[in-house]
Amino acid sequence: MISGKSKLMVAIDTDNYEKAVELIDKLDNSVEIFKLGLENYIASRGKTLDYLKSKGKRVFLDLKFHDIPNTMMSAVRACIKDGVWLMTIHVSDYEGMKMCADIAKEEAARLGIEKPLIVGVTVLTSMSDEDLASVGCNLSTREAAIKRAKLAKEAGLDGVVCSAQEVEDIVAACGDDFVTVCPGIRPKSAEVGDQKRVVTPSQAIKNGAKLLVVGRPITRAEDPAKAADLIVEEIEKALV
Ligand code: C5P
Repeated sequence: MISGKSKLMVAIDTDNYEKAVELIDKLDNSVEIFKLGLENYIASRGKTLDYLKSKGKRVFLDLKFHDIPNTMMSAVRACIKDGVWLMTIHVSDYEGMKMCADIAKEEAARLGIEKPLIVGVTVLTSMSDEDLASVGCNLSTREAAIKRAKLAKEAGLDGVVCSAQEVEDIVAACGDDFVTVCPGIRPKSAEVGDQKRVVTPSQAIKNGAKLLVVGRPITRAEDPAKAADLIVEEIEKALV
């Protein structure tokens, strides 16, 4: 049976290293994969990443690289050397994405480790159709997301970040083995906060989401471990 824990990634969105460590310790028995973004990574100078590695946790480093191919490739290689398990890059030119995918294979083989996953950001969820048009892209956000997901797959990326409401479209376009990483997850009891298109953990899994990103419903809960355990339980029920 696939464990619920292997599907849950908890976002540690704080610029305070001590608070991050406190939270990680509280979640030690409940969570295997943690997501670090720009805020924490920059503020802690990578220290939280080192702490997670010292505890044997998997790290999703969500820095959303976007640069010329050689710089992207070098950044991906540096992440792999640093023990990152999953990382994000923006979907852009085919060549740049292919260089990232190829270096991940080469570097993992050289280090004798499981190949880390590289997932693409297709269209930021903060972008509207009008925002896309304003930068010269005359596709809807949905059309652009599917087009970019297909290009990411062709270039060898492992998957994309997408809303759990878009997963079915992405799976239809790219296949069931393409990894879908879904934020905007809210258990029924949790507050929605600033997320607009939320989906429950069980619905996300039923839609075909491979990995769920959950932040505040766990990190701001009175008992974060209990909140995480309940989500893991909900995921496991949806998997059978
Ligand atoms: O607290 P919450 O569950 O909303 O956190 C979701 C996490 O996923 C945050 O770290 C947020 O930055 C990230 N994220 C998102 N939507 C995206 C991409 C990333 O909410 N499209």
